[in-house]
Amino acid sequence: MTAPAPEYTLRLRRFDPESGQASYWQEFKVTLEGHRSVLDGILKVRDEVDGSIGIRCSCLQAICGSCGVRINDKPGLACHTHLERAAQAAPEGSRVITVEPMGNMPVIKDLIVDMDAVHWKKIQRVTPWLINKEPVPEREYVVPPESMLDITQSVACIQCGACVSDCLSMEVDPEFIGPAQFAKAYRFVGDPRDAQQYERLKDLAEDPHGIYDCTHCWMCIDACPKDVAPMSQIMRLRRLAGSDHEIEDRNNGQRHEHAFVKNIERNGLLHEADLLPDSYGGKLHPRAAPVLLDSLPVIITALLRRKITLRHALGHPYHKRFRGLRRLLDPIERRPERYELNLYVSGYDGEEPAHVAGQGPAMVATGTSGVGPPQAPDGARKSA
Ligand code: SF4
Ligand code: SF4
Ligand code: FES
Repeated sequence: MTAPAPEYTLRLRRFDPESGQASYWQEFKVTLEGHRSVLDGILKVRDEVDGSIGIRCSCLQAICGSCGVRINDKPGLACHTHLERAAQAAPEGSRVITVEPMGNMPVIKDLIVDMDAVHWKKIQRVTPWLINKEPVPEREYVVPPESMLDITQSVACIQCGACVSDCLSMEVDPEFIGPAQFAKAYRFVGDPRDAQQYERLKDLAEDPHGIYDCTHCWMCIDACPKDVAPMSQIMRLRRLAGSDHEIEDRNNGQRHEHAFVKNIERNGLLHEADLLPDSYGGKLHPRAAPVLLDSLPVIITALLRRKITLRHALGHPYHKRFRGLRRLLDPIERRPERYELNLYVSGYDGEEPAHVAGQGPAMVATGTSGVGPPQAPDGARKSA
């Protein structure tokens, strides 16, 4: 005899724009097996209890990306979250499964957000199509397999918006282009058939809400149900823009990144007092003067409150402690080219590892840059 299905409590965020009332919480009980999804639970409640519940869905199998919601305060796909797991993850052992609409996008009704107003509009911003090189070959373009593996991770995006929902930069700056959008941008920047790699990178670097506006908070990586790792795609866009194409953007992003490296090389540990002037070309550079003047009140306050001392502000306090760092850096810097390894692991916990033809398990190691021909063995690509 099979055990009876357990009962779960779903706490849904309700909002009806036509009612003129603010949003509110409503609880429903649903009896279903624990391996069924949160979406199954909501659809059952909608079928049997309240037909007015608004939720968007289509494929029911984590492919179409339409059922993005926040479950227990974390973004994800309702069709790809087991009821039992969600109950176990509920705060303070309450087992109450909280479901609300995704963040950073306006709510249309209940759990449905306006993807057009934010997500899709921003996707359009990155020119999400291939601009082919000329002349067009008579037959198909021949693309090295390594290059296509390189963009596989960004191609895996199902446009669910979970990363957009959790992006801290977008929360602070709604104009920020966005994690899924940069992942989409890399899909074409990294494609050797695209004719406008440089133009795309320059555009994204120069935009004040572009690649240098990401705060590396990691939220998009945690949120993504497809392991697209949008932040990693942003870092790859930056390396291509800043290091390979040496695009000096008006946001000072490239110089700021280089200043970090130089600062640590010089001090062994980040010396914050130098970072700002270094980012603008050094303390004596004319570009640095207005920025330093601007920061003067903060510097004086920090000195008065003894957050820093003059010795720390002007000297290089860690220098002696980290002399050995040079020995670590030298062999890396002497390499003629940069090696990168884009590790894209596909599949889900508990699944038998699938196999990529001729490559062993479903762990696909690829190069990243899209600049220069792939040369290194084992999927690691050298790039200038
Ligand atoms: S890492 Fe960057 S893009 Fe990703 S969520 Fe944080 S701020 Fe947004
Ligand atoms: S990057 Fe991931 S979380 Fe963001 S839209 Fe694509 S699949 Fe969803
Ligand atoms: S319904 Fe398609 S991803 Fe959930």
